[in-house]
Amino acid sequence: MFRLDGKVALVTGASQGIGEAIAKRLAAQGATVVCAARTLRNLQVVANAITEAGGKADVVVADLADTASVRAAIAATVERHGAIHILVNNAGITRDKLLIQMKEEDWDAVLDTDLKGAWAAVQAATKPMMKQRWGRIINIASVVGQMGNPGQANYVAAKAGLIGLTKSVARELASRNVTANAVTPGYIETAMTAGLPEDVKAEFTKQIPLGRMGTGEDIAAAVAFLASEEAGYITGQTLSVNGGMLMV
Ligand SMILES: NC(=O)c1ccc[n+]([C@@H]2O[C@H](COP(=O)([O-])OP(=O)(O)OC[C@H]3O[C@@H](n4cnc5c(N)ncnc54)[C@H](OP(=O)(O)O)[C@@H]3O)[C@@H](O)[C@H]2O)c1
Repeated sequence: MFRLDGKVALVTGASQGIGEAIAKRLAAQGATVVCAARTLRNLQVVANAITEAGGKADVVVADLADTASVRAAIAATVERHGAIHILVNNAGITRDKLLIQMKEEDWDAVLDTDLKGAWAAVQAATKPMMKQRWGRIINIASVVGQMGNPGQANYVAAKAGLIGLTKSVARELASRNVTANAVTPGYIETAMTAGLPEDVKAEFTKQIPLGRMGTGEDIAAAVAFLASEEAGYITGQTLSVNGGMLMV
């Protein structure tokens, strides 16, 4: 079930956290996985782990905030591996501040990486996917993009935008057998949430019916499903993986 043999996947933000778990999972399902982020050393650790486990991995250094760099990463994937079948837009940053204190550069940095970077990657991947009449675009948004969050106006706007982008892309590319879906993680144990004070984490956990924070593997399982042949009739959807903390 959900095998990805012969497929080429590019995962952004694959050097740690959720992206690392996604890269490992897609490789375990049989895909060749190109891991992208800014820090080569961390990417190599992930790619080596995939190879040691018997999978196929490659790395490409890319800055999602730089459109030319994003386009070059997609081009390198196609050049080296002959195709791009699966694009997972996972790279993301936060610059949390209350609205009244938020600087323009906090807004721009988050929107550039989390939303514009995903747009640039989708646009660059669209041509080869349309040509081969098969593609899976999976955008990692966030539960807060569905419900809002104080102190995260920039991040929430980017993630809500990513859900809207997903729906438009789904409608534009459906006739070419390219699907686009969003996954919205709840609170997941990664470096992004590691800095939260213990009492705040405990408070969040109380709001999660399944009673725990999620893991990268919880998200990776949903992505592997959406990337598969079996999910071929699902497009334009937002799959919530949040332990039940938001039910829509
Ligand atoms: N953790 C959560 O609770 C949670 C909840 C909902 C949604 N999410 C979303 O899930 C995704 C992954 O989150 P995470 O918790 O795994 O984050 P993380 O541990 O902070 O990892 C972020 C990844 O993105 C890469 N990255 C950051 N800026 C980049 C840029 N400009 N260009 C290329 N790569 C960049 C980082 O590598 P480099 O720094 O080396 O570039 C790293 O690989 C994000 O989109 C996040 O918004 C997370």
